[in-house]
Formats: sequence, structure tokens, C-alpha cells
Amino acid sequence: MSLTENINKDNLPKHLAIIMDGNGRWAKQKGMLRAFGHEKGTKSVRVVVEECAKLGIENLTLYAFSTENWNRPKLEVDTLMKLLISSLKGELKTLQNNDIRLNSIGNLDNLPASVKKELTEVIAKTKDNKRMTLTLALSYGSREEIITAVKNISDKVKNNIISTTDIDESIINQHLYTHNLPDVDLVIRTSGEHRISNFLLWQIAYAEFYFTDVLWPDFREKDLYDAIISYQKRERRFGKTSEQIK
Ligand code: IPE
Ligand code: IPE
Ligand code: MG
Repeated sequence: MSLTENINKDNLPKHLAIIMDGNGRWAKQKGMLRAFGHEKGTKSVRVVVEECAKLGIENLTLYAFSTENWNRPKLEVDTLMKLLISSLKGELKTLQNNDIRLNSIGNLDNLPASVKKELTEVIAKTKDNKRMTLTLALSYGSREEIITAVKNISDKVKNNIISTTDIDESIINQHLYTHNLPDVDLVIRTSGEHRISNFLLWQIAYAEFYFTDVLWPDFREKDLYDAIISYQKRERRFGKTSEQIK
């Protein structure tokens, strides 16, 4: 029996978001530098991206670098940026072969020009791909995203483009980095931490959560399937009673 047999293809999360955590601890456990963990983590990214596309998940968002991660030692930040460039260069083929469109959320102006250039190029080259949208959260912070949205909406009110009474969920959605994505259905966080760390605060309003102790560099197909199977066993009630949705 194949491992995916227990997965119901009609009840997949439309939007899966992953907080890829534990690279540093994984390396430390092996007596290696944190950078080694980040490098090994890229293999897990490739496995998960390909597997999600194969399964038929339409939107996958990966938390790759937070606004708070800028506070790490400069050497580590530099390593992560370099790794990002080499991954973007190296994985273009994977994206094209699997019909995956690359997208990004976050404040790209804070990224080094070389990263921004590579990212923009891969986004442009994959823009017509249809099978799955892969969104990288880079220099992403949910609070910053919300502040930016509030500023932009305020400007529109000030300039009489919209009125205060027009402001609803849809208007807010349109002003977030994620404006072209559906709400998150499932969040996976690896490494045993049970927190959100400023990730998609608005978009996870009704998401399901799956936490695993597996460290990101060890995360493989089986771990992804376990998370999806757990998700599929849950009853999402959205405020209603169980009887109402049966
Ligand atoms: C996740 O692993 C990668 C990033 C946050 C960029 P960490 O680097 O946070 O690894 P730990 O949590 O220190 O083990
Ligand atoms: C969250 O991981 C950010 C990413 C996975 C990119 P962190 O390791 O930075 O989170 P905290 O600071 O431990 O909450
Ligand atoms: Mg961490």
C-alpha cells in the first residue's frame, strides 16, 4: 500500500503554510555549525514542494525568513541570503518541471539586491505555471504586513478612493501581501515549538494547526502525509455546531 493511499484527494488543504523550524538545533545535535542545518533544510524544501504539487495542493507558503530574523548574527543572515540565491538558481528547473509558479510575500526592499534580482527573475519565468503557487515568505512579518495595509487603506480614504464604510474583510484582504491567495487551511510547524512567530496572523483566523517534533532538515514525505491525514480527520465547524455541517 502506498503511503498516499490514506490521503483523500478531495479534502486537501487549499492553502498549506509551513513554519520550517529547527535547522540550527539539527546541526548542533550533529556537532556542526548552524549553516549546515540551513543547507540540509533546502533538501526538505525540495521534497515538500514536489510532493505538494504531486498531491494536488494548490497553494504552499513557506516561512523562509522573518522580519525578526534580521536580528540574527550577520554571518548567519549572510549565509541564509547566499543559500537563497543558490536555491533560487538551482530550483528553477524543479519549478518548471512541476508547473509551479513562484510568488513571494514580505518586504522585499529589505533584501540584498542580488536576492531580489534572482527572486524577481524566477517569479517572472514561472508566472504562467498553473499546478501550484509556491509562496516564499521572505523578510516577512505579519504585523508589518498589517501596518502597511492600514497605511494604504488610510491613503485611499484620505484621497476619496474608498470610504470608511467600504472597509470590510475583502478590502483588508486586497491590501495584504497575500491578496491573491486563499485563507490558510493548515499550518505545520516543525521542531516542537508551539508558536506562530508573526506568521500570517490575519490569514490563519480559521486554520488548523499541526505541530511536530521533527526538525526541518529531517522532514520528509511521510511527515507531510501525517500532517495532511491529521488535518483530514478534523471537523472544521467555522462557528457552527457539528450537526449543522453533517
Ligand atoms: C529555521 O531554523 C530557519 C530560519 C528561521 C531561517 P532555525 O534557524 O530557526 O533553527 P533553530 O530553531 O535555531 O533550531
Ligand atoms: C520562525 O522561526 C521564522 C522562520 C521559520 C523563517 P524562528 O526560529 O525565527 O522563530 P522564533 O524566533 O524561535 O519564534
Ligand atoms: Mg528557530
